[in-house]
Amino acid sequence: ARGGHGGGGDLRFTPVPPNTDDKLSIPDGYRSSVVVRWGDPVLSDAPAFDFDNQTADAQNKQFGYNCDFVTLFPMGRDRGLLWVNHEYTDESLMFRGYTGGADATEEQIQIALAAHGGSVVEVERERGTGEWKLVTHGRRRYNRRITAQTPMKFTGPAAGSDLLKTDADRQGLKPVGMLNNCAGGTTPWGTVLTAEENIDQYFVNGDKVPEAQRPYITRYTITTGTPEDSRRFDRVEERFDLAKHPQEANRFGWIVEIDPFDPDSTPVKRTALGRFKHEAANTTLSRDGHLVVYMGDDAQFEYIYKFVSKERYVRGFDRHNRDLLDEGTLYVAKFTGDSPKGQIDGSGKLPSDRMFDGSGEWIPLVSGDKSYVKGMTAEEVLVYTRVAADKVGATKMDRPEDMERNPVTGGVYVALTNNTNRTKAQVDEANPRTGNKHGHVLEIVERKNDAAAKTFAWSIPLVCGDPKDPATYFAGFDKTKVSPISCPDNVTFDRDGNLWISTDGNQLGSHDGLFVMPVRGKDRGHLRQFLTVPTGAETCGPLVAEDQLSVFVAVQHPGEVDGASPENPASRWPDGDQPRPAVAVVWHEKGKKIGS
Ligand code: FEO
Ligand code: CA
Ligand code: CA
Ligand code: CA
Repeated sequence: ARGGHGGGGDLRFTPVPPNTDDKLSIPDGYRSSVVVRWGDPVLSDAPAFDFDNQTADAQNKQFGYNCDFVTLFPMGRDRGLLWVNHEYTDESLMFRGYTGGADATEEQIQIALAAHGGSVVEVERERGTGEWKLVTHGRRRYNRRITAQTPMKFTGPAAGSDLLKTDADRQGLKPVGMLNNCAGGTTPWGTVLTAEENIDQYFVNGDKVPEAQRPYITRYTITTGTPEDSRRFDRVEERFDLAKHPQEANRFGWIVEIDPFDPDSTPVKRTALGRFKHEAANTTLSRDGHLVVYMGDDAQFEYIYKFVSKERYVRGFDRHNRDLLDEGTLYVAKFTGDSPKGQIDGSGKLPSDRMFDGSGEWIPLVSGDKSYVKGMTAEEVLVYTRVAADKVGATKMDRPEDMERNPVTGGVYVALTNNTNRTKAQVDEANPRTGNKHGHVLEIVERKNDAAAKTFAWSIPLVCGDPKDPATYFAGFDKTKVSPISCPDNVTFDRDGNLWISTDGNQLGSHDGLFVMPVRGKDRGHLRQFLTVPTGAETCGPLVAEDQLSVFVAVQHPGEVDGASPENPASRWPDGDQPRPAVAVVWHEKGKKIGS
C-alpha cells in the first residue's frame, strides 16, 4: 500500500472535530453500533437488564460495568471471542438515591462486586461488513463472567509468601477475585493479561494494620479509616477490612492471566510481574525469543517496568509457554536526557537540539528468588515493587498508562497521561513540563531493536495539548493540520504501524476520543481525531481488528459528571435512557480499511 508501514499514506478520513455532543461521533463514510453494554446477558440463563430491579444474581450473569480493555480472539472469519475488562463501578449512576457505601443495601454492594472483573462473550460479524454483534442465540460455550468473587490462584516466586497469607488462605495461594482491571494485553498463546490498577480504594482501615506494614499501605495509597465515599465491600465480605485481615490488600494489584478458550480455567495472578497500580501488560518477543512484557504504574511520579522471561517462547508448545510468566527478570526504567539541564525549564519549549530525547537503562529489580535491591527479599520486591523501584533510583514519570511495542517498527510507545503536580524542580527531559495537564507520548527504541535489551534510546514524539499552544509538539509536523489532543491513555497499532491513541480526561473543553498518528515517514506526527465519545465518558479499548475492517472502543463511564444521578443523567447514551458503559464498533460503510 502506498505510504504504508506507519507512513500514514492510507489515512484519508476527514478528522472528527472536537465537540461536546452526547454521542459517538465518527468520520463521514463510517458507521457504528453498540456491540455489548452493561447488563446485556452474558450467560445463557441471564435475565434481561432491568435498571430499576437489578440484582446481584442477574449481574453475575450479565455484562459488567465500566468496560476498559477490549481484545478479540478470532474463531474463523466471522466469529470471535471478545474479552472486556470491567474496571470499576459508578454506584451513584447505577442506583437511584445512592448516598454511599454506609447506607447502601447489601444487595447493591453485591451487585457492585459482580459488576467488576471481566467478560468473555462470543461475537459474530455481519457478513461482508466490519460490524460485530453479540451472539444471542444457541450455545455460547465460552461466555463467562469473572468478578471480584471468582476463585483465582497465585503462581510465580511470591506465590505462597507470608505476605500473601490470610485467615481464609493460610497457604497464600488462592486469592479471590480481581479488582479495577484497567487495560491489558494478550499473550502469543492466546490468553488475556488483565491489569489490576487502583486497588487502593476497595479496603477500609488501612491504618489499623500492624506497625511494620504501615509504610507499604502508605506507599500504595491504601485507604485509611472508613471514608464516606467507600463502597464498603467490607460490609458483605469481611476480608476488605484490613483491621481484621491486613494482608488482603497484598492480594490485589497484580497482572491476571485468563484463558478465554477454557471457561473452567482458574485465573492466575502472576507474581513475577510485580505488584503496583498496573495499567496494562503488553507482550512482545525479544530477538532470541524471550517473552517481554511492558507495564506502566499509573499514578503521578510512578515508574515504567518490563519483564523478560527466563525461558524462550516455543511456537506451538503451549504447555511450556504457559509457565513463561512465572520465571524471569523484572526491570524498572531510568531515563537520562541529552540536553543541557537549564534548557529543560518546565515550559515545554524544545531544547536547542530540537528534541526531548536521550538514553535510558533497564535496572533489574528481581529475578526468580534473587533480589537485586538492597535490604529487600525477592518476595518483598514482588509484593512491594514500588518501594524497590524507589530504592534503585528509577525515573518518576507523569502517570504511565498503556505501553505497547509497535509490531511494524519495534518502537515502544508509552502514554503518559498527565501530572498536574510536577513542579519546576521536578522536571526532567522525559517529563519536561510543569503542571503537565495534557500529557505526552514517549517512544522507546530498545538497543539493537531487541526487546530484551538493557539499554535504550528514547524521545517524545507527541507533547499533547492545543496545537496553538507553543508548549505542544507533534513530531515536527505542521501544527495547523493536526487535531488537538489531551490526556493520552491507551495505545494500539494498525497493521501499517500507525499509532492509535485513546484519551481519558480531555482538559481542552471537548470530549475524549480516539486518534491516529503515523510514526514514520513524512506524516510522522500528523495526528487526526477518528472519533469522540459521549458526555462524561473516556475512550478505552481501542482495538483495530486484525483484518483492519473494524475498530472497537470501550465507551467507559458515559454520564460520569459531578452531580449526575439516575434522576439527573448527564448522558443518555447509548439507548436514550440511563447511560450504560458499552463496547462500540466502527466500520467503513463500503467495507474499506479503517482510516481510509
Ligand atoms: Fe484505569 Fe490508568 O486508567
Ligand atoms: Ca534532547
Ligand atoms: Ca487507562
Ligand atoms: Ca486513565
